[in-house]
Amino acid sequence: GKVGVLFGGRSAEREVSLMSGKGVLAALRSKGIDAHGFDPAERSIAELAAEKFDRVFIALHGRYGEDGTLQGVLEQLGLPYTGSGVMASSIGMDKVMTKRIWLSLGLPTPRFIVLDSKDATHDELRKVPDELGLPLMLKAPHEGSTIGISKVIGYSEMQSGFDLCAKYDDVVLAEEFITGRELTVPVLGTGRNARALPIVEIRAPQGNYDYEHKYFSDDTQYLCPAPLDAELTKRIQSLAVRAFNAVGSSGWARVDFMLRAADNEPFLLEINTSPGMTGHSLVPMAAKAAGVSYEDLCVEILRSADL
Ligand code: DAL
Ligand code: MG
Repeated sequence: GKVGVLFGGRSAEREVSLMSGKGVLAALRSKGIDAHGFDPAERSIAELAAEKFDRVFIALHGRYGEDGTLQGVLEQLGLPYTGSGVMASSIGMDKVMTKRIWLSLGLPTPRFIVLDSKDATHDELRKVPDELGLPLMLKAPHEGSTIGISKVIGYSEMQSGFDLCAKYDDVVLAEEFITGRELTVPVLGTGRNARALPIVEIRAPQGNYDYEHKYFSDDTQYLCPAPLDAELTKRIQSLAVRAFNAVGSSGWARVDFMLRAADNEPFLLEINTSPGMTGHSLVPMAAKAAGVSYEDLCVEILRSADL
């Protein structure tokens, strides 16, 4: 049947999605699948319905693509789609809600405080480092690709870091900074069949794995499988699957971690329910380490639309 690859979109991650979608479209076509690109930023829902796709591959990131709103439209149209449903997509797009769910199930995630973007007082901001220590992270809870994120080293940076994040969201997440190694774990499948791919360790210059390093520069080192002993590897992979199921994800996702240097304890940072599929992206890297080509990975993700 005819497959739609949804990419582009109107979130801050549009540029990333254009790269992901291009890759996915070419991969599906190389497998003989009748795949067509569709950019919901340029065309209407009526046009989407008129395309008579049999199912769609969501290669959109961020708001209006990864956050459940599009998934709701596709449910209404009766059009099968890849990845998580409405609820898991909405939860996954919200770092605060995700952390609350993980905490409620006893899954480890860094300590945090939620600040109102409009109403937080200078005094409230000043108290945050007292509670969470320094450095700390400030994050716009509904963004991706390191957009709307600020690392605060000293008290004097709290206000400017907060102002940057507050531009993107109604609330700002202040989170304890875990000093250690940066890891990510892709998960494929659904429910009982969910399985973790090899762990990727990211070693960016000065630990600064930001937008530029994610998609454009070549000076970040990636280690896959991450050099961790077998027991810790298993523990982190199993934590990734539990984190995935906790928010009710399906099909595929990528779970990001920090591994605390002091004691090798893993902490869950966030889940990405429509992760990057660019030439620089980490899900394809982990799949490759597991012997799954980019093309086969795309076909497997596409199959999740039928579940
Ligand atoms: N938000 C980007 C696309 C990712 O998590 O891969
Ligand atoms: Mg993210």
